[in-house]
Amino acid sequence: MDKKLEKIAEVLKKEGSTVTFFVGAGISTNCGIPDFRSPKTGLYANLQRLNLPYPEAVFDIEYFKKSPKAFYTLADELFPGKFLPSIFHYFIKLCQDKGKLRRCYSQNIDTLERIAGVEDDKIVEAHGSFANSHCITCKAEMETKVLRKLMKTGIPKCPVCKGYVKPDIVFFGEGLPSKFFDLWDEDCDTEKNLAIVAGTSLAVFPFANLPHEINKNCKRVLINREKCGTFLDSPRKTDIILLEDCDKIAEKLVDLLGWKTELDALIAK
Ligand code: OAD
Repeated sequence: MDKKLEKIAEVLKKEGSTVTFFVGAGISTNCGIPDFRSPKTGLYANLQRLNLPYPEAVFDIEYFKKSPKAFYTLADELFPGKFLPSIFHYFIKLCQDKGKLRRCYSQNIDTLERIAGVEDDKIVEAHGSFANSHCITCKAEMETKVLRKLMKTGIPKCPVCKGYVKPDIVFFGEGLPSKFFDLWDEDCDTEKNLAIVAGTSLAVFPFANLPHEINKNCKRVLINREKCGTFLDSPRKTDIILLEDCDKIAEKLVDLLGWKTELDALIAK
């Protein structure tokens, strides 16, 4: 393990090297937010109370059009505002501060990368976020604070056409934001790059394709509790696999890179 960590630190220390992150729900489990697919603790194993036909229906646009209540029950529990970033989120922010962060592609809707201080042009929220909301019928925008207020008394409806309003989270059956495709065209061919994949089962496409498509000269790293996706199906000789808690790994990397004081300052903020 130590050798693998040293290799990662060595690339990060190199003049002009950059890192692209590909992250998922696993980087937020230590913040108290469940991931989706972990067998006992994942969200999809704990939705019996919502009486869904199948767990993913809670994020399915066709199901939402018929029965928005299930999503709104969950949204109330997951709404950003009460969670704090993890060590891993701060590690991404430190990479930014050191001029190393090329991009952070995130599947998460918890906005914790932003709360940790990662800048808008560095983040691609591939599956959207709670930051904005729109009517699913006439597309009128609704301010988050208005949505949050309406959620307290029922399902938020559009004041213009009475259609259901939904936060701009990408549901199954909806397209990803154009920022995802535009920036990936720029980012996928960078050579001096390190690709760190963390806290994701790489089960959802097209996101799961990104670490597979990244330039062959880019060193790929997986930090996750399980081996998954392209690291199983199309492994590369240079892949580094760390099957560990992502915060533990981030902490060790921060130590090796000499960034400990800065990390402590971010956590204490
Ligand atoms: P998953 O729940 O599918 O995968 C989370 C991964 O993180 C699993 O492999 C866990 O073993 C691992 N994990 C959990 N905690 C960890 C920790 N502390 N350290 C290291 N690894 C850890 O979540 P995602 O891959 O993010 O989409 O799921 C992708 C998409 O599926 C989500 O964005 C969501 C969902 O349906 C939508 O809502 C559209």
